[in-house]
Amino acid sequence: TANAMWGGRFAAGPDAIMEAINASIGFDKRLARQDIEGSRAHAAMLAATGILSDSDAEAIREGLLTVLSEIESGSFEFSTALEDIHMNVEARLKQVIGEPAGRLHTARSRNDQVATDFRLWVRDQCDAAISGIEALMRALLAQAEQGADWVMPGFTHLQTAQPVTWGHHMMAYVEMFARDRGRMVDARARMNECPLGAAALAGTSFPIDRHMTAEALGFDRPMANSLDAVSARDFALEFLSAASICAMHLSRFAEELVIWSSAQFRFVRLSDRFSTGSSIMPQKKNPDAAELIRAKIGRIFGANVALMMVMKGLPLAYSKDMQEDKEQVFDAADNLMLALAAMEGMVRDMSANREALERAAGSGFSTATDLADWLVRVLGLPFREAHHVTGTLVAMAEGAGVDLPDLDLAQMQTVHPGITAAIFEVLGVHNSVASRMSHGGTAPAQVRAQIARWKEILP
Ligand code: ARG
Repeated sequence: TANAMWGGRFAAGPDAIMEAINASIGFDKRLARQDIEGSRAHAAMLAATGILSDSDAEAIREGLLTVLSEIESGSFEFSTALEDIHMNVEARLKQVIGEPAGRLHTARSRNDQVATDFRLWVRDQCDAAISGIEALMRALLAQAEQGADWVMPGFTHLQTAQPVTWGHHMMAYVEMFARDRGRMVDARARMNECPLGAAALAGTSFPIDRHMTAEALGFDRPMANSLDAVSARDFALEFLSAASICAMHLSRFAEELVIWSSAQFRFVRLSDRFSTGSSIMPQKKNPDAAELIRAKIGRIFGANVALMMVMKGLPLAYSKDMQEDKEQVFDAADNLMLALAAMEGMVRDMSANREALERAAGSGFSTATDLADWLVRVLGLPFREAHHVTGTLVAMAEGAGVDLPDLDLAQMQTVHPGITAAIFEVLGVHNSVASRMSHGGTAPAQVRAQIARWKEILP
């Protein structure tokens, strides 16, 4: 039989395959709450503007609450024949309240309806991402505070570069996640305009009040152009882009945790709660959560690219292609929230191995730059010459199988006679980090200032 919602011009119902490719209820049932919220605002507005009687609007608004409670309690029976969440809800409303249900869709289309539902849903996800990121930032701050002056190697090319502090390294991620948070805040602000009332694409001849529905749904204002309102999905893409960048940061940190927790590094010990064992190798404790976080960027960025590809060839206004927007965003959002929560838990639980960090900080000639700087500062050598002298000393230490502080003064003086015992002061890692007092540098005093600043501004 033909569809009860739009079957007027149809003699036959859809083929089973048509139904399968067309139906979205399998996933867009996740929009139920937003759909009902939107419909309730719409019905109230239709009554306020005299388009619907107060009694019809009241019956609709009450009936929608009944439907919502059925959905939330799990007793609602979703129907594939009814395609999507919008028609499932409306059909059930008809069963619950009878005739007035058919008046709800006045001055509205599923095109502005779905655009509104989806915006509301993505807006919630921005909020969830913002609080997930803030929780992670707090966990990082706690780590930074504890080890503000713990020394560790700083790397470039994953080769020992210069000593840095553990707190400094943690705070680097605080800065990254703060920008991710900012991107979510910006995306949320930009998407917070209401498509409802754009109707199918052209607006409506009914005297609706779009400002009223926009306000009721917590939007700043109605969208200004009805064609844009039903066609735009850049709000979802902006969320996915911000999510992708955030996931990329999570992935870099996850990669560091994988490396740091290895037996070769031992920089951190991950808690049992965020590790797994091996079914064959009894000694194993694997950083699976970190590895999975590292992998999530793939599907989140994939969702971003997939939706870009769906949208890029679509003429205005609505095309059914756009129904493919939801699964990508649902999956990306679910996995971003999971990755944020897992990272927060791991960071809260992990313990940095202060001794291992310090030992590693001093190896690999990490204070060679300090030595070169000393030659410039104290002996007045040009930096290029100081660089060369230091390189010779590094080669000398390497040849002897020792580190820079282990060379004796007489040996050093064969390379440059001006060198005095005072040089040993700059070869220690603690002196090295303490000297990096430039704004944003790794000196513990600088790191503590960064921590204090973030504790002040983080909500
Ligand atoms: N399920 C559809 C979607 O997700 C709702 C809009 C349908 N509109 C239409 N004209 N067929 O996009």
